[in-house]
Amino acid sequence: MSRLVVVSNRVSAPRQGRTGGEGGLAVGILAALRERGGLWFGWSGKITEQGGNLDVFEHGPITYATLDLTARDYEEYYSGFANRSLWPLFHYRLDLADFTRRYLAGYQRVNALFASKLLPHLQDDDQIWIHDYHLIPLADQLRQAGCKQKIGFFLHIPWPAPEVLVALPNHRSLVNSLCAYDLIGFQTEIDRQAFIDYVLRDAGGTQIDEATVELHGRRVTTGAYPISIDTENLAKMAEEASSTRHTERLRGSVRDRDLIVGVDRLDYSKGLVARVEAFEHLLKAYPANRGRAVFLQIAPPSRSDVPEYQHIRGELEAACGRVNAAYADFDWTPIRYLNKGFSRRLLTGFFRVSTIGLITPLRDGMNLVAKEYVACQNPEDPGALVLSRFAGAARELEGALIVNPYDNEGVAEALQSALAMSRDERRERWSAMFDYLRRHDIDAWREAYLKALADT
Ligand code: G6P
Repeated sequence: MSRLVVVSNRVSAPRQGRTGGEGGLAVGILAALRERGGLWFGWSGKITEQGGNLDVFEHGPITYATLDLTARDYEEYYSGFANRSLWPLFHYRLDLADFTRRYLAGYQRVNALFASKLLPHLQDDDQIWIHDYHLIPLADQLRQAGCKQKIGFFLHIPWPAPEVLVALPNHRSLVNSLCAYDLIGFQTEIDRQAFIDYVLRDAGGTQIDEATVELHGRRVTTGAYPISIDTENLAKMAEEASSTRHTERLRGSVRDRDLIVGVDRLDYSKGLVARVEAFEHLLKAYPANRGRAVFLQIAPPSRSDVPEYQHIRGELEAACGRVNAAYADFDWTPIRYLNKGFSRRLLTGFFRVSTIGLITPLRDGMNLVAKEYVACQNPEDPGALVLSRFAGAARELEGALIVNPYDNEGVAEALQSALAMSRDERRERWSAMFDYLRRHDIDAWREAYLKALADT
């Protein structure tokens, strides 16, 4: 079996005796790297004066190679083009996008740096798997340097409709560079179709078969591979976490009230302000919930160097403050807003004691929290999931109450039905979703993708 080379902006590398990061994607990728032996290449997370230093180290069968960036690289490539141009654009927030040309130049420069540093570490029969919007031009850069190996790309975020994509000043060259891959994986069929539509209608490409298009003489295969979670492992973790000290503390503080929980990076794509407004509407329209419902929103800060993220933080704080000021009583605070993160293990217990998981992004490639919420429920008395139709996960989690996150009143109605839902209905909805996630877990995702890449 050929060696696997994974490239991503962030690398989940082991440090000081600890194993790699505990996120689901890291678990899935590490499993493949361990099985076949392999290399994980990406940014070290460090900013140094010179940049460009590559730290290569081994841990069991896996080699890690992490690259330092300069402050300018970080600003232009990461904060700039990746997170102020592509991220808002791909999440349909043209109003927040900034297409400063300097960002694009920095993005190209860092991708070229990645290619030049990776190249000497590649072997002839490697299978290369590049992840996410930070590294779209990387295959093209590698090909220009003579790389002949199979290279696959997986986009973790949405691919926008052509009408939105064309707002990017250099949309053509970005898509051309994607055609240097052998396989492009999207989260959903909708994303894949949007890409094909652009290639056929805007870029002058031709369709070879259902999955394959040709553009400027290169054929590229596309597919939808909805990413997933380590379902069994999470379910086990949640069962264990149901009686830990932290879970008991949360349960004790909520008492017999209904706990509604949301966990998201503090990002404008997550619809957090609208979510608070929907909860406010629940209290207003269904007064029986006053004193009874508690909304716990965990939102660790993210990309705090980017002004739009500072702004959303202020907006969310104001919204939570306003609702608490209007509705709180001496023995009840409606919203508990926590601007910090918790370990995955701890969250599994929080999910398990809640009545509702409330996940309402305005746009989301997949949203693994929604899947994790399902995996963590108690089979005897599972919580209900209220999920945005604009999350990729909504295409698969048919037992969720699917909502339009722009419609506060509709979300409040869904919350009210979830609160009133019988245990039988909750069990029925949950078991269909859990069975699905057991069959479609992170291992199945990775195997399907890598098999398709090998078959191209
Ligand atoms: C999204 C992206 C990932 C990214 C993560 C955290 O899930 O798809 O590529 O790593 O957000 O964002 P950050 O900017 O902290 O890496």
